[in-house]
Amino acid sequence: MKSLEEIKQIREQKRQELDLRVNLSANTVEKHILVCHGTGCTSSKSEDIINNLRRIIEEKHIENVRVIQTGCFGLCAKGPIVIIRPEDIFYSMVKPEDAEEIINTHIIEGRLVERLLCKDIDGSLVQRLDDLSFYKKQKRIALKNCGKIDPENIDEYIAFDGYKALEKVLFNMSQDEVIDVVTKSGLRGRGGAGFLTRKEMAIYKNGRR
Ligand code: FES
Repeated sequence: MKSLEEIKQIREQKRQELDLRVNLSANTVEKHILVCHGTGCTSSKSEDIINNLRRIIEEKHIENVRVIQTGCFGLCAKGPIVIIRPEDIFYSMVKPEDAEEIINTHIIEGRLVERLLCKDIDGSLVQRLDDLSFYKKQKRIALKNCGKIDPENIDEYIAFDGYKALEKVLFNMSQDEVIDVVTKSGLRGRGGAGFLTRKEMAIYKNGRR
């Protein structure tokens, strides 16, 4: 990437393509099978699940279905987690050998693989991750895209507003405005001492380094 225009172009094109990750009524024939590639799920063989799903899709010549590795969904104890979008069905404690059934039953026949649905604390089966009691009172802020995008794909990061704050700072704000925002935020951090970030910025601005 060499210019702001290039970033904007990626954001526009890719965002449409990835709409089904966040929009449950996305107008698409595509399906994305999101497989957690966080540490917990990886140690329970999520990499093998990804490979098996991709292999079966290829062998069966299935079109419009992509398998995407994601970051942690936050429910590691129930991993490996697999979520299928746009219908947003989530399967828990998936094993590599379950890949065939997920493809045959869910993708080809359009039915749920009930035995892989997660049980809530009251014993009821839950289809959507957000409907679990564990999640109902939570709101992810800094990690809101974790589990929705491939953390190793920079275009997906850009599609979900990656670098937008940097863009705003570089092109729409003066140095003093940036320092003002950081001052009001009370942000600290530079080494373990936790100095005020604002102070460091002012020192750099005044060329005292
Ligand atoms: S590592 Fe997969 S849900 Fe946390």
